[in-house]
Amino acid sequence: MKSAYIYKSIGFEKIYIDKNASEDAKNDVSKSAENKKQETSYEHHKSTTSELLRQLKAFYETCKDCKKCKLSEQRTQVVFGDGNPDSKVLFVGEAPGADEDIEGKPFVGKAGKLLTFELESVGLLRERDYYITNVVKCRPPGNRTPEEQEMMSCSYILKQEIKLINPQLIVALGKTAAVGLSGNKQISPTKLRGDFIVTNFKSPVLEPGKKIFITYHPSYLLRNPSEIKNFREDIAKIKQLIKSL
Ligand code: URA
Repeated sequence: MKSAYIYKSIGFEKIYIDKNASEDAKNDVSKSAENKKQETSYEHHKSTTSELLRQLKAFYETCKDCKKCKLSEQRTQVVFGDGNPDSKVLFVGEAPGADEDIEGKPFVGKAGKLLTFELESVGLLRERDYYITNVVKCRPPGNRTPEEQEMMSCSYILKQEIKLINPQLIVALGKTAAVGLSGNKQISPTKLRGDFIVTNFKSPVLEPGKKIFITYHPSYLLRNPSEIKNFREDIAKIKQLIKSL
């Protein structure tokens, strides 16, 4: 995807291009020997991936008419996760927005385009390298922050996604994701950003002791583009970590 195009399409006047990141990405997605090796190992994972997809689909089928909270009243559809369920990384956002509610996939609107672009520029592709979902699966009216009760009612879906995917790294995108994953309402992403937190026994979706990496929500970056530089530092850390997993 061309950077100029993607940034203009999501409303940025200024175009943020990190030459080093683009070079990295080129190296990553080129047909290098390392890549070929990766492809072979992906072949091995194919059967696991399709079995996981089958299990996720079967589970989603049982949730698609969920009416556990009032968000069911105004949604178009329940928006489940997307990506490669057999990957080591799970990104977790807040809740679907208007575009996601219509398309039925997470992170396809402006914020999603920004996130996808930034991850692609370090060589991380949704269909290959990560799975992405939200704490809450139905669009809150007017894109308001999900309420605690809505997050709790919805937690059985995220819990099961995490159980099936069994990620080695969970990236919380913004405060709602950090709260939903940790079960800690006081959590401060501003203080903890770029670092790991360990979940406590109160987490509604995770075993105690699981590590989460907290970074910015892409909608925040749309409002505060000067933070993209810091976000890129986080993404670089995530990329490094994935390599070592
Ligand atoms: N789109 C999503 O799917 N989730 C968010 O948190 C924001 C936009």
